[in-house]
Amino acid sequence: MPETASSPASTTASPEAEIMAALGPRSIVLVGMMGAGKSTIGRRLSARLRLPFLDADTEIEAAAGMSIPDIFETHGEPHFRDGEARVIARLLDSGPAVIATGGGAFMREETRSRIRDKAVSIWLKADADIIMKRVKRRADRPLLQTADPAATVGRLIEEREPVYQRADITIWSRDVPHEKIVDECIEALHARLCGHAENEASNTLSATP
Ligand code: S3P
Repeated sequence: MPETASSPASTTASPEAEIMAALGPRSIVLVGMMGAGKSTIGRRLSARLRLPFLDADTEIEAAAGMSIPDIFETHGEPHFRDGEARVIARLLDSGPAVIATGGGAFMREETRSRIRDKAVSIWLKADADIIMKRVKRRADRPLLQTADPAATVGRLIEEREPVYQRADITIWSRDVPHEKIVDECIEALHARLCGHAENEASNTLSATP
């Protein structure tokens, strides 16, 4: 017998579909310290939302035709930061996408204000131990080529957290399966964009930009 009425399930949009409808042309931008998982989580979040994934560091390297350590060594950090701001501005204009930014990008006011206008931002917050454990695996972060990388990470966390805190959403990045962190991003995006504040997880918070 043909069905005459839709079942409730077929009329209820998924949280992902509701997020996409509410997002419009805006992107989702991940900010936070090196090793917080911005690229790993960003890639998985983009797959869940069926959005392109863009990694700002990779795009900067492609635009410069050289690696980030080489840009720092040849041209210095201020040159890298200018290029980073330009690349992120371009990526924001090509939205919607999920964009992972380098750890220093959100520190620049001009970039923060572009992100505020054209995206929803998520701070992936990680504690120093987790960051150290993850960044030890790679030696390609020029800022950590210091005598005491743990002290450098501690100093950067102190300087940067008050600024990262201005992101729209905060999610604790910790040693749990990646899909759990992605689920929390989806829940928090849904709460923020679709007005289901009662679903907001206790480990997320909205901050005034
Ligand atoms: C930086 C973080 C790096 C990269 C560059 C500078 C920073 O990106 O942009 O080495 O200032 O924290 P990740 O956060 O993706 O490691």
